[in-house]
Amino acid sequence: RRLGRSKEVMRQVINKAKRRSQLSTQHIESKTSPMEKPASPGPLRIAFPEGDDKRIMRAAARIVKEGIGKPVLFGKSDEIQALAKQLSVNLEGIDLLDSQTHPQREDLAQQFFAMRARKGVTLAEARRYMLRRHYYAPMLLLRGEVEAVVCGETYHYPDSIRPALQILPLAKGISHASGLYMLLFKNRLIFCADTTVNITPDAETLAEIALSAADTAHRFDIEPRVALLSFSNFGSVKHSLVDLVQAAVKILHRRRPDLVVDGEMQADTATNEDILSSTYPFSRLKEDANVLIFPDLTSGNIAYKLLVELGGAEAIGPILTGLSKPYHVLQRDASVDAIVNIAAIAAVQAQEIELSQQA
Ligand code: ACO
Repeated sequence: RRLGRSKEVMRQVINKAKRRSQLSTQHIESKTSPMEKPASPGPLRIAFPEGDDKRIMRAAARIVKEGIGKPVLFGKSDEIQALAKQLSVNLEGIDLLDSQTHPQREDLAQQFFAMRARKGVTLAEARRYMLRRHYYAPMLLLRGEVEAVVCGETYHYPDSIRPALQILPLAKGISHASGLYMLLFKNRLIFCADTTVNITPDAETLAEIALSAADTAHRFDIEPRVALLSFSNFGSVKHSLVDLVQAAVKILHRRRPDLVVDGEMQADTATNEDILSSTYPFSRLKEDANVLIFPDLTSGNIAYKLLVELGGAEAIGPILTGLSKPYHVLQRDASVDAIVNIAAIAAVQAQEIELSQQA
């Protein structure tokens, strides 16, 4: 039953990716004279640095079949072809890219050197970095050679995300990337952040995490009701960790008076409308929150995993927010479904970026 619900939500995202893809092509065609080359012709290219992984390969075939985009699988082409044969995966509609022999490698090394020379990187080191797929993929994304990257299937999360943080600019007005999960329960859907990136955020960062999560909820056509969580309810405990959350709430109230957001509050207050209305009628949150902001990564990461393992939630993510281009780091050993879901989310984001640039 839970799987059915998750599929329904992701079906909507996938359909959105397809619809946007068609819209974008029409938009580009209508704005382009016959002599001009469209900015991004054809399906969206989604790079997978771990292209020679079995699950990635199976997911790539599904991505083509669903019409979400064109996967670009990194790896040695003879090895990928042999594995595809063994798995009976059809490689039609999929591009293969070997970063070791790719013709743009020296160019990318020079560009990486120019970007990182004042961060202690020498040209020789830049060339070595470009032998690493997790550096090569965000460089291709930066240059617009691909429109999205999905990685992390076989690497530790920090090792997959660090290259993107070093290479890709942040989105306008954002100073920290952060990560969230969408959790689907039988009768409700909640967003949890930050579950993957910022270990001990300060008040400014916490406020930004909340804004990014609220914007993501909007993207899924969900009106955000945001709660900043703590072990205290509206000043019931005096402690510096509570002060930090209160400071973040103040920033949010000042910066986004339109947003339904409040705190600090305990998790049961945030998710139980009766407690909110009976004990805290002054709260700006009148209904249970659907965006939960944790005070640090320890609580966020532990909470979402417990909700999945013991609370019966179906998790979609992690969704990385705050970067100017779609770059997502999977949880290690993500399932084929999870990979396809993240690719669909990346495709929707890529289309939004493309449309905003064309506007
Ligand atoms: N947003 C934007 N840029 C950032 C951020 C951020 N939140 N954090 C770091 N950076 C940038 C830095 O500015 C720096 O850029 P520069 O080299 O151009 O100056 C670069 O990233 C490296 O930053 P460092 O300060 O050296 O930090 P480090 O590389 O050690 O760590 C990282 C960054 C990897 C995000 C770290 O904070 C981390 O490990 N976070 C936790 C990840 C994790 O383990 N998550 C839980 C598991 S995931 C799961 O369960 C699905």
